[in-house]
Amino acid sequence: MSQGEHTVAEQILRLRSQIDDHNYRYYVLDDPQIPDVDYDRLFRELQALESEHPALVTPDSPTQRVGAMGDTSFDAITHRIPMLSLDNAFDEEELREFDRRIHDRLKTDQAITYVCEPKLDGLAVSLHYEQGLLVRAATRGDGYVGEDITGNIRTIPSVPLKLRGEAVPELVEVRGEVYMPKAGFESLNRTLTEQGEKTFVNPRNAAAGSLRQKNSAVTARRPLEMCAYSVAVPDEGVLPATHWDCLQRVRDWGFRINPEMRQAEGVEDCLQAYQALLDKRADLPYEIDGIVFKVNRLDLQAELGFVSRAPRWAIAHKFPAEEALTVLEGVDFQVGRTGAVTPVARLKPVFVGGVTVSNATLHNMDEIRRLDVHVGDTVFVRRAGDVIPQVVKVVLDKRPANAGVVERPTACPVCQSDIVQIEGEAVARCSGGLFCPAQRKEAIRHYASRKALDIEGLGEKWIDILVEREMVKTVADLYTLDKFDLMGLERMGEKSATNLVNAIHDSKQPELWRFIYALGIREVGEATAKALARHYGTLESLMQADEESLQEVADVGPIVAGHVRSFFDQAHNQETIAALRENGVAWQQETVDAGGQPLEGQTWVLTGTLGEMTRDEAKAILERLGAKVSGSVSGKTSCVVAGESAGSKLTKAQSLGVKVLDESEFASVLASFGAGPAT
Ligand code: IVH
Repeated sequence: MSQGEHTVAEQILRLRSQIDDHNYRYYVLDDPQIPDVDYDRLFRELQALESEHPALVTPDSPTQRVGAMGDTSFDAITHRIPMLSLDNAFDEEELREFDRRIHDRLKTDQAITYVCEPKLDGLAVSLHYEQGLLVRAATRGDGYVGEDITGNIRTIPSVPLKLRGEAVPELVEVRGEVYMPKAGFESLNRTLTEQGEKTFVNPRNAAAGSLRQKNSAVTARRPLEMCAYSVAVPDEGVLPATHWDCLQRVRDWGFRINPEMRQAEGVEDCLQAYQALLDKRADLPYEIDGIVFKVNRLDLQAELGFVSRAPRWAIAHKFPAEEALTVLEGVDFQVGRTGAVTPVARLKPVFVGGVTVSNATLHNMDEIRRLDVHVGDTVFVRRAGDVIPQVVKVVLDKRPANAGVVERPTACPVCQSDIVQIEGEAVARCSGGLFCPAQRKEAIRHYASRKALDIEGLGEKWIDILVEREMVKTVADLYTLDKFDLMGLERMGEKSATNLVNAIHDSKQPELWRFIYALGIREVGEATAKALARHYGTLESLMQADEESLQEVADVGPIVAGHVRSFFDQAHNQETIAALRENGVAWQQETVDAGGQPLEGQTWVLTGTLGEMTRDEAKAILERLGAKVSGSVSGKTSCVVAGESAGSKLTKAQSLGVKVLDESEFASVLASFGAGPAT
């Protein structure tokens, strides 16, 4: 070997060890030390050296994970130690029985220490290492004979190709779960949808499908991870005495172990761990279907032994299933509060995700086509956490001969107005606007909301009743209600009726921007409403503005301009505005921008407590002067006003070198513009 090659070999080893260290920090310790770009640079450097010196490539090099056709043989592999399964406990009582049985067998009253591990919803794998190198990986199969999936397993970045540390036993078998994190699953399904391919029903199926690939290069592109949960070595004397410590050892060798793992003393503690994990379930980045309790001491495990195919020392306490099969009995089209027409699946009631589900969203017609769902189909329904139940797959084999095709209605099922679908948008909408009762409730709720006309006491409950009894059809009708109308309603006493009528009456002179905002024009939020009010000064001139002129207003682009124009073009909206005026609503005029406001283009942040005015007042003044008021400080912030006990925003402003004013400085700035709390 020449001197030059010797150096290259060393360089390669150094790079590999650096890359392995970064992988370890990233996958095992969850504590990366370098940004991805630097990692990629090291990786490319190693790739370049190895391709110049192919003789120096070894199978444990991090570059050797990419995979190729035929890497994975799927040959039968007999497990030296059978891969058993776990008994399940479906409720608290079954878990208590498990703990009682253990006490009986061990003849002890002392609390047992258990290790509590999330039950990852993936696939069990067995990995064999010889002299620290990964030599074989197998699926569980029937527990006795699995399939050789070494080539596919090698592509998973959290599986070490070579074990770390000094004292690695000559032969090691590590078992664990291969799974696909939720985010990876979502993005894989998105890609598959874009490519017109079939999607996976859940992360578990996606993980299984990915491990079954004949071409490891495909597996390599799938976002799989592996978490270790057990270890075996021929000479058990070299392992620590507890399961917990064994897993720490496995971690030192370079495996990821689950960060949610904990120990519990006795069954009560286990029940707490169950509840705590269940509460966390929806927030975890991967799916779990329960919690596994394992007796911690290995000598006690040995004493307890096995029964048929499961250990006596472990149990899985299952969580409510998040998927179930049921029958689609029909599809209704619901008009949402913004006019969006959404197909809703009517299902034969089914218990899933801890509740009985009889409706599920189908999103839109594209989704119905993608799922190819017919009325009468047997479907998979999923409900994870608080997420709305979804239909995720049709079981085609079970489709009855008379299954019905789902067609989108052409008229709104509530008000019979045309349903329109803008090109390129997935959502179809009812064109009825305020005329459509389904949209009316939302329009009224929005009109009465705090940032709009702020009608206290007019909550959702009363709005539903008023609209359902047809006492209020448009927001203009609110002003015709008297206390006697309201007192006729159930649970509405004279006092509340009077208060509500007064609150409605008090809303009759809104600032112009609030009124514009209250109309509920699509995509016209608070800031746009303010900009429109400042630009046009009166509602009349806004109502007459064409799309071109509308786009002169700050923040108004062609889409918003189109929404504003079409809102005012609708006859029923014009009628409602006229009726509001007739019923005494008189919005104020706004001083029109005299072509330039002193703080135009600036972003201000208010923090801490101001003595002379509320933050909302300060915000209003700044906005009148043309500034945007934001809730967070960044490098783009023009100025921060820091009142009493300002905290992290002030610190951040100082660290970024953003200008900071105290309250008196702020007051003098305002005074210089002729503005202040009194204006
Ligand atoms: S221990 C003899 N621990 O659950 C002990 N299994 O129903 C066998 N699983 O096939 C397994 N997370 O795929 C164990 N922390 C965990 C687990 C876990 C998921 C799966 C595994 C196994 C199945 C048993």
